[in-house]
Amino acid sequence: MAEMILKHIYKKFDDGVMAVKDFHLDIKEKEFVIFVGPSGCGKSTTLRMIAGLEKISEGEFIIDGKRMNDVPSCDRDMAMVFQNYALYPHMSVYDNIAYSMKLKKVPKDEIREKVTDVANKLGLLEVLDRKPKELSGGQKQRVAMGRAIVRRPKVFLMDEPLSNLDAKLRNQMRTEISKLYQELDSTFIYVTHDQVEAMTLGTKIVVLKDGEIQQVATPQELYNHPANLFVAGFIGTPTMNIFEADCVMKNGVLHVKIGDALFKAPEKMAKILSDKDYIHHKIMVGVRAEDIRLSDTGEIVSQVQVYEMLGDYVHLYFEYAGQKITVRVPATIPVKREEVVKLTFDMDRVHLFDGTYGYRVGWQEDEAKIVL
Ligand SMILES: Nc1ncnc2c1ncn2[C@@H]1O[C@H](COP(=O)(O)OP(=O)(O)OP(=O)(O)O)[C@@H](O)[C@H]1O
Ligand SMILES: [Mg+2]
Repeated sequence: MAEMILKHIYKKFDDGVMAVKDFHLDIKEKEFVIFVGPSGCGKSTTLRMIAGLEKISEGEFIIDGKRMNDVPSCDRDMAMVFQNYALYPHMSVYDNIAYSMKLKKVPKDEIREKVTDVANKLGLLEVLDRKPKELSGGQKQRVAMGRAIVRRPKVFLMDEPLSNLDAKLRNQMRTEISKLYQELDSTFIYVTHDQVEAMTLGTKIVVLKDGEIQQVATPQELYNHPANLFVAGFIGTPTMNIFEADCVMKNGVLHVKIGDALFKAPEKMAKILSDKDYIHHKIMVGVRAEDIRLSDTGEIVSQVQVYEMLGDYVHLYFEYAGQKITVRVPATIPVKREEVVKLTFDMDRVHLFDGTYGYRVGWQEDEAKIVL
């Protein structure tokens, strides 16, 4: 299988809910594609349409030039791993993993060899004789994964497979999935609402909101150049600081004004702001917590309201011009709660968004024109 194309796909449920709108995406061989977005944004519905478990209302699903809309789920060479594992409770781990091969009448020796190989990969050799109820959550999850792997599908579909696990197991399984992806020659399509999972696993991330794609990008591009205010606020912890700002001229130089603070715009930014006439329109300025520094010449004067120690770095919380500001600094910087400090922005890393529509106003040198 070389390529899947979801061509302007819509899903309208019988009750009139339009769950997916104009979803258009190319998926190349061996990509790790992530669908991420808040609850109800259409992630599972899209995945289920790919799996053939949900009918496509409008648009086309193409694999290698062939229209798949009406191809039954079982003929799609895909394996799906769900959030709730769906193991057969009366069967042993061995039989759960072997089940699909038994149905296909694969010779017993071959089944044994494949189950052992997969169990070994997933660290399940010791529990092959147990029933699902005698397993931990993580082990059950691995059995579900094993069942999918023995089928050697071209495409793995996973719908929040880790959401039932505690934080530690989730991290562990995330690494396992990553390893699996490196080892197998399959395409992965993975649904999550967890942006950390999305950023660490994906090679291509699709951010969804209300059934519509907001951005398709690599993790790095998503973080560095979010396409709109929604993506900017959704990706990254802590959440990006977003300010309403005005563009003003001072001594013939364009400045961005937030509250009373004036930030000199870098040359490229100034050019784009004046070319696009933001002198007369609202602009939003986005700054990540790590792009704000404490400095004696800082433009914003404010008092530390909360000091949050997080190991080798610290989060500081401020309020300025009716707005919360989060700053991330190394733990070695001497600062304490209630201290009044000055803050400055790394202006070369500042994001701009249209104040009315929220789309990105690109200005940075390295804004990639990556075609995914
Ligand atoms: N069978 C159905 N009939 C009617 N509406 C549905 C059906 N299944 C899902 N929906 C609606 O479609 C929208 C998208 O649902 P979907 O399950 O795809 O969201 P999701 O992104 O997977 O959310 P979550 O993160 O909560 O799993 C929601 O508004 C949901 O209520
Ligand atoms: Mg879902």
